[in-house]
Amino acid sequence: MGAPRLIYINWRCKECHGWDYLGRDGAYASGKHATGIPGIQGAAGADADKIVSMLKADEHGFGDLLSDQDFMDLANFVGKGQVDMNPYIDRASKAPQGDASKGEVYFNTICANCHGKDGKMPEDMKPFGAQMGNPWEVMHKILNGQPGEDMPALRALDHQIIADIMSHMATLHKE
Ligand code: HEC
Ligand code: HEC
Repeated sequence: MGAPRLIYINWRCKECHGWDYLGRDGAYASGKHATGIPGIQGAAGADADKIVSMLKADEHGFGDLLSDQDFMDLANFVGKGQVDMNPYIDRASKAPQGDASKGEVYFNTICANCHGKDGKMPEDMKPFGAQMGNPWEVMHKILNGQPGEDMPALRALDHQIIADIMSHMATLHKE
């Protein structure tokens, strides 16, 4: 008998490993997402082939669910793309560790064209002020984009600049 394929119930990586990649040692240590599953930080630097076989193995069982390109993208992210968010987000208060006034300038230059100065565009999006309840998810999406949307992966931004931008986003209206 193989391992249970939990994936079919809950397949998004973040459900088990967290938006901060730290699993049970991060933001999902407690609360409704608590799973007791470790993070993926131990696989940072690992070979892409090794990561892909891990994702195809029974524990994950993604083998017949994703394309070769998906596996390569995921392996590149796990192996080379993880960012330590701890210096940029205070875990207890969820406060981004940036300078909001600098961040406002960056935000209005880089983001406001698409998101509006008040962070409420596009219309179907939850306003940024409200999204800052999960700053790890916001940081992940700034760095990696949003699947299926025109959100660019802003990998080139310095991480401290992202923290500055998030500090500004936290001041925006929640409704
Ligand atoms: C339903 C829960 C679940 C989901 C969803 C899930 N994983 Fe996992 N993952 C696990 C478990 C359980 C382990 C094994 C942990 C252990 O070794 O104790 C693991 C281990 C890993 C490891 C190895 C970590 C290490 O340090 O060795 C990586 C990398 C990983 N997963 C990546 C992913 C990626 C990428 C996705 C999404 C495509 C994903 N996982 C989705 C449960 C999950
Ligand atoms: C070229 C247009 C464009 C630019 C520039 C852009 N975004 Fe986006 N972004 C989008 C679109 C489109 C979405 C998807 C919105 C949705 O979910 O409806 C998105 C999604 C997001 C999300 C995830 C929202 C969610 O609902 O989960 C975050 C966070 C985000 N953007 C932050 C930023 C920040 C911060 C900047 C500037 C540093 C930025 N974006 C620049 C177009 C853009």
